[in-house]
Amino acid sequence: MAVNLRESWSIGGVEVPTRLVLAPMAGVSIQAFRRQGRRFGAGLVCSEMVSAAGIEHRNERTYGYLRVSSDEHPLAIQIFGAEPTAMAEAARMVEAAGADIVDMNFGCPVRKVTKTGAGAHLMEDPELACRVVSAVAEAVSVPVTVKMRRGVENGSRACLELGPRLVEAGVAALTLHPRSAQQMYTGEADHALTAELVERVAVPVIASGDVTSRDNAIAVLERTGAAAVMVARGAQGNPWSLREMIEGEAFAPTREEVAAELIVFIREAVRELGEQRAVGFLKKFYGWYLGHGRFPKPFKQELVVLPTTEEVVMRLFAAAPGAAELVERLEAELPDPAEDVVLEGMPISVYGGG
Ligand SMILES: Cc1cc2nc3c(=O)[nH]c(=O)nc-3n(C[C@H](O)[C@H](O)[C@H](O)COP(=O)(O)O)c2cc1C
Repeated sequence: MAVNLRESWSIGGVEVPTRLVLAPMAGVSIQAFRRQGRRFGAGLVCSEMVSAAGIEHRNERTYGYLRVSSDEHPLAIQIFGAEPTAMAEAARMVEAAGADIVDMNFGCPVRKVTKTGAGAHLMEDPELACRVVSAVAEAVSVPVTVKMRRGVENGSRACLELGPRLVEAGVAALTLHPRSAQQMYTGEADHALTAELVERVAVPVIASGDVTSRDNAIAVLERTGAAAVMVARGAQGNPWSLREMIEGEAFAPTREEVAAELIVFIREAVRELGEQRAVGFLKKFYGWYLGHGRFPKPFKQELVVLPTTEEVVMRLFAAAPGAAELVERLEAELPDPAEDVVLEGMPISVYGGG
């Protein structure tokens, strides 16, 4: 049976217009990234993980505060923590800020997070994991979801035991990234486990891991019976990959299109993070956007050493003058940033991974 990526489906009462979900990525999934993902065909976008104990984490290096705007919906905001009461409070805050779904991170393998009992550590403490889910599900009226790994140890099948218990505790969907926490991002995502999880639960499952092309998006959906696929690294600096997956045609952007998307992204990042933070934050994006043979390699090297984003934008315009008109068109469609909801209590964390 042919799988259609443009089909809508739903999580709880929330309709998701396509079967493509843009992944949460710490240090990547800022508002500009989520908004672009929606524009290129993701049916659901997700914030990077935000700390439920935001106040305690004030001393950590943060990128600023989460902003939510009208063109991101449906939007999942991901929270992490291990304390049921704090997680419930955080869930109420993100619901009030406009989250259509509250997602919980049970997959982050980074020690800074797991040593507090949060992230992937919760996969080893099913009792606590279920208490966190119940507290969060009771605290909000929007659907709540969990994103998890296969387990902590290599070869673990913990997700298959935990998944059904989380559903009983109140989750409306599950995302599985079937690598162990130990594996971090090495090896391959084992979607045979995703297929097993789908068999065991009555809620939609989102398959995360190694989806980078239309062919493997379809193969993963067919093989697993998952409701949707999630794309993370494949969308870094490459929103066109989402369009290609949805539309089914190879889509090679012109230089002007690449420059225009990057310029709008840079300007939005500056608005969201401030110039000082944006300069460092954006460096990795230059390689991501300009690679794929789109621009000669030395050009990226030139950009990463420029001290201000204004100079980067000028270099991009000089390299692709035709981008100006596209930038104007894209910016005309952005909603008024003054209407954004800002989650002041919750710093965006820089902990990587899930
Ligand atoms: C830089 C980076 C940051 C990530 N941050 C998060 C996060 O905050 N929360 C989360 O649940 N997963 C996070 N992940 C995991 C991804 O959402 C995804 O599950 C994983 O990268 C596998 O998908 P991929 O093969 O499409 O990259 C992160 C991954 C990367 C590469």
